[in-house]
Amino acid sequence: MSANAHPDSTDLDRIHSAVKREKADLPPESQPAPLWATFLLMLVAIVAGGQLGPMAGGWSFDVSNPFSIAAGGMDPRPGADGAGATLDPFALAMKKGASGYAICGGCHQGNGAGLPGQFPPLAGSEWVTGGTERLIRVVQHGLVGAITVKGQGYNTPGGMQPFGAAMSSQDLANVLTYIRNTWGNEGTMITKEMVQKVRDEEKRATQWTEAELQPFADKNVEGEIPAGPGATAAAAAK
Ligand code: HEC
Repeated sequence: MSANAHPDSTDLDRIHSAVKREKADLPPESQPAPLWATFLLMLVAIVAGGQLGPMAGGWSFDVSNPFSIAAGGMDPRPGADGAGATLDPFALAMKKGASGYAICGGCHQGNGAGLPGQFPPLAGSEWVTGGTERLIRVVQHGLVGAITVKGQGYNTPGGMQPFGAAMSSQDLANVLTYIRNTWGNEGTMITKEMVQKVRDEEKRATQWTEAELQPFADKNVEGEIPAGPGATAAAAAK
């Protein structure tokens, strides 16, 4: 082929494909947003996040907040300490009650089954799942003398010591909620207000006997709320 002939077909293909690659012009109403608008939206999102974060879940830019985790402080809101921050009141009581139960487990055992002839069981015990008036009194003031639990007699010398002085109303409430809802037990949640109510009206310094507690066996301290996730709504509504 001579040098002054038409551009060869390879050149034509190259030129055409370059033209075909060009995008068609956009109509004026659908031009891309200007860059400044993109940055403005990002700024709005960041500022809004800073406002919404603390409301929605305690997330905050503000590391000078004395209660913020970043500042090493303790958040004083109920249930806001540590892992408990995300738990509902019932789940939190169960978690704390489980560790508080270490005090009881030495006698009643980790599985709540007690020791035959020595320490009565809490698992399946009518004393535990029955009236909260009796249960709170047992742990608050102690128990002595012959008792029957699940049809078995117990009469351990010295009985059970009172825990009212050693444990706060909140700690007791957590442990009692725990033993009422563990090992297959099912019971209502016991709040610190309920424990406090019994404390305020009953100041005895001696351990109870089974006969003395009989009138309270099926009585419930008012203010109890159902256990389980439902407790959240009930507690929040209070
Ligand atoms: C030093 C051993 C000991 C410890 C610790 C102990 N208890 Fe007891 N507990 C006993 C004995 C003994 C009895 C039975 C008392 C009697 O015979 O009159 C008893 C009885 C009970 C009863 C009534 C009977 C039953 O089995 O349901 C409950 C409820 C109870 N304890 C709960 C607790 C809780 C909750 C704790 C922890 C805060 C605890 N106890 C810690 C020894 C102990």
